Amino acid sequence: MKGLLTLKDLHKDKILELIEYALQIKNGLKVSYPGKKVVTLFYENSTRTHYSFQCALLNLGINVIQCNTETSSVQKGESLYDTVRTFEYLGVDGVVIRSSQDEYFKELENINIPIFNGGDGKSNHPTQSLLDLMTIYEEYGKFEGLKCCIIGDIAHSRVAHTNIEVMERLGMEVYISGPEEFIDDSAKYIPFDEAIKTMDVIMLLRVQFERHEEKMEMTISDYHARYGLTKEKVDCMKEHAIIMHPAPVNRGVEIADDVVECSKSRIFKQMANGVYIRMAVVSSALDGKL
Ligand code: CP
Repeated sequence: MKGLLTLKDLHKDKILELIEYALQIKNGLKVSYPGKKVVTLFYENSTRTHYSFQCALLNLGINVIQCNTETSSVQKGESLYDTVRTFEYLGVDGVVIRSSQDEYFKELENINIPIFNGGDGKSNHPTQSLLDLMTIYEEYGKFEGLKCCIIGDIAHSRVAHTNIEVMERLGMEVYISGPEEFIDDSAKYIPFDEAIKTMDVIMLLRVQFERHEEKMEMTISDYHARYGLTKEKVDCMKEHAIIMHPAPVNRGVEIADDVVECSKSRIFKQMANGVYIRMAVVSSALDGKL
């Protein structure tokens, strides 16, 4: 299948190539695809992924068609496959999809246009990971040997699961931390206070209240007191260490309000890099390189 669905089957050389290409675009390289049309099809809410794909497509001179799942025939029960097949036959050149269904793209094997995965269930968020990697690479100029701890709602997080797999492949040491009810076996556990003092990258995650079938055992204020990144905790981080978060952030839950834009935070830089990474991904796919 064409496009970008998961990073698991993307060789690390290709990942580095995409990051370098995004950096070239950030530094002024012009790429343009006039006359091309790409559909955005979001079955789940999104601000960053949806609209940074849209900005990326517009920057590439591509016409964006937003499929409204509330008013389209999705509401009459049309399947994902039939919806995407329809767009293929309408003559569009690619589709960006977000769905709560894990690995929804396995249904789309017969589709002949590029599919760009904007996030599937708890499994993959490839462009988020690429923009995270680009931000780390801009900071350190390497991945090998860097230590990253992902803190929070690991079990529900496609960002954590995607990042752990790819970061380890790129030679990073990856740890997880947070309340026991949020932890799975995707990486080695480290206590929160130890992580704060020893990591090069502290990556916080939003508590995904909408994905919790059972009520959280801990109150929000307990969570903030035990696992929230406060100014006092930031002062314990290594001098060069950075703070990342895929956002949206729950200010006052996993991160204190005054930390969101502190000098160690790269949260808004991540969002800016998302546009360049998505331009690099779409351009590579339209050039037949993905
Ligand atoms: N980081 C991220 O995926 O944000 P959105 O849900 O707003 O797209």
